[in-house]
Amino acid sequence: MDYQQLLSDAMGAARHAAGTGRVADYIPALAAADPDAFGMALATAEGEVFGVGAWEQPFSIQSISKLFTLTHVLAQGGDDIWKGVGREPSGNTFNSLVQLETERGIPRNPFINAGAIVVTDRLQSLTGDAAGAVRAFLRAESENPLIDTDRAVAASEAEHGHRNAALAHFIASHGNLENSVEVVLEQYYAHCAIEASCRDLALAGRFLARYGLRANGSRLLSRSEAKRVNAVLLTCGTYDAAGEFAYRVGLPGKSGVGGGILAIVPGRAAVCAWSPGLDKAGNSVSAVAALDAFSTASGLSVF
Ligand code: DON
Repeated sequence: MDYQQLLSDAMGAARHAAGTGRVADYIPALAAADPDAFGMALATAEGEVFGVGAWEQPFSIQSISKLFTLTHVLAQGGDDIWKGVGREPSGNTFNSLVQLETERGIPRNPFINAGAIVVTDRLQSLTGDAAGAVRAFLRAESENPLIDTDRAVAASEAEHGHRNAALAHFIASHGNLENSVEVVLEQYYAHCAIEASCRDLALAGRFLARYGLRANGSRLLSRSEAKRVNAVLLTCGTYDAAGEFAYRVGLPGKSGVGGGILAIVPGRAAVCAWSPGLDKAGNSVSAVAALDAFSTASGLSVF
């Protein structure tokens, strides 16, 4: 398969969407992003890497980090995480508060903000440094030691993070946090504010295309755990647009409000597309268009 050509064609197909989305401005430090920037990279299960556009330019990974926090909690703490967080789509915006009250502080899934806060809490208990664990993993898989948290973005998130603070306190009131709200939010912002490129993220997501095997051949997840993470990505990874993303792209994927989307072709590859303009669900308009074109042209989807 000519992956380089497929990526070039996908970038061309996404061009019509350029400038149509809105950059996330509820985190002021992200508002300066160029809405027309675009990059896309693919890493095969065997380790080849292809890229187009600004595929090596770092951007704020935001909620894509939630895929890595969940993976590490599963790897180190096993199925206990599912006592504190569900795995059903929420049908609500990613930072919604409404379900928590009737559902006793147990968030619907690990990829909405409420669920990710619980997962960060458990990773903090397991490692003592939840964000550090995510950074170390990204650096190792991508062989890029420069990957780091952008402290200005993390501070901006904390300063404007009233909703996340409300979610965390509400969850804590139901006894579903093991660490203090302050510590959990600090770690949560620190992993959301990591900067990495499409190249880095495609390489870091490769373990899910390899049924749980890391770049160095060691096993991070069992084959069935990898299947389950991919399933939750498909049903919950793009929030209340997960149905639309499955319809158009047909791959498990995780988006972030920095404009990145990391998608997995099980057995074959991890693909990351990035462009900062977002639709109203918080997914990048051009990245969805590019992944749609890629999976349609290549026939690579889980369906
Ligand atoms: O907590 C927040 O709102 C952000 N740090 C992450 C949100 C996000 O990326 C949702 N993505 N579509």
